[in-house]
Amino acid sequence: MDFFEVVRTRQSTRAFTSQPLEPEKRQHLLDAINRAPSAGNLQAYEIYAVTRRESLDAMVVAARLKTRGQDYIAQAPIVLVFCANPARSTPRFGSRGETLYCVQDATIACAYAQLAATALGLATVWIGSFDETAVRQAIGVGDDLRPVVILPVGYAAETPDKSVRRPVADLVHRVE
Ligand SMILES: Cc1cc2nc3c(=O)[nH]c(=O)nc-3n(C[C@H](O)[C@H](O)[C@H](O)COP(=O)(O)O)c2cc1C
Repeated sequence: MDFFEVVRTRQSTRAFTSQPLEPEKRQHLLDAINRAPSAGNLQAYEIYAVTRRESLDAMVVAARLKTRGQDYIAQAPIVLVFCANPARSTPRFGSRGETLYCVQDATIACAYAQLAATALGLATVWIGSFDETAVRQAIGVGDDLRPVVILPVGYAAETPDKSVRRPVADLVHRVE
């Protein structure tokens, strides 16, 4: 798949088969994520690769929405939790590092993860709606880290409808 096909193909998937993730694909994915840019190349984020059943179940509870559960988190063979790590960014960048860059670093790493997973034939869904304290407890980290995204990764058990986007002309504002 070339890059633009990857971009066209990726779509949020909320049902996963029980097929395990092959160790080579897992490594390939993590290596691709590790090429993501970051402010000052400080990589002010940590990735938790979760397969422990109790942690997955606890994340389902942590990410319960008012309208529906997000049980698909516990279906995926692996769930990556991207956490901002302000301590890596603050000494160099001060409050901008503490409140913004570490979150952006974690965010772009997760965007890389979604695209790399797609290129490997895997499916993902970005989960941003969760109780941060409950996610910290689920993965066993302290409040020095801020969970930013939960990303279940696995093989799709559904073919979701293609999402629609704003027209480019509406989205892009020319400053000429
Ligand atoms: C910041 C952010 C937060 C999101 N949070 C959730 C979430 O909590 N649960 C969920 O099912 N999808 C979540 N999504 C996925 C979006 O709903 C999805 O990307 C969007 O509807 C477009 O669909 P597509 O990814 O298939 O193109 C989130 C996406 C982003 C970027």
